[in-house]
Amino acid sequence: MTTDEITELLTEAYVDELETVMNYLTNAIVLDGVHAEEVKESLEADVQEELEHARMLGNRLKQLEQSPPGSAAFEASQSGLQPPEDTTDVQSVIEGVLEAEDDAIETYQSLHEAATEANDPVTEDVAVTILSDEEAHRTEFRGFQKEFPSD
Ligand SMILES: [Fe+2]
Ligand SMILES: [Fe+2]
Repeated sequence: MTTDEITELLTEAYVDELETVMNYLTNAIVLDGVHAEEVKESLEADVQEELEHARMLGNRLKQLEQSPPGSAAFEASQSGLQPPEDTTDVQSVIEGVLEAEDDAIETYQSLHEAATEANDPVTEDVAVTILSDEEAHRTEFRGFQKEFPSD
């Protein structure tokens, strides 16, 4: 792995985090019903954590003399996290979150591996710190999934 591959992964992760912020925020706003309340609160809290992840990744890019991107090159990828037509469909949002967290976990595992190979302990540390948050998010939403079984 080269430094180029590390900056590529950092950039990709930065963009993914910001897409996650948008979709978690939207779903925290649109969901309806008594069953939605806990999920909405959790999404609201995660928005702050995902934003902090983007901040960490952007700052690491800056330290590597790169710049995090603006929105011009942005391509959306989280089709599973679009707000549901039926705003009481909490289950579909839970599924979308689990998919997004799985993707994030994969990204940070790759970043960790690349940083280890490139002997870049600072990026390694960033990857492990964020990875640990994403695993906690996944665990929380696996719990919600048990409460909201699909029919
Ligand atoms: Fe994140
Ligand atoms: Fe997350």
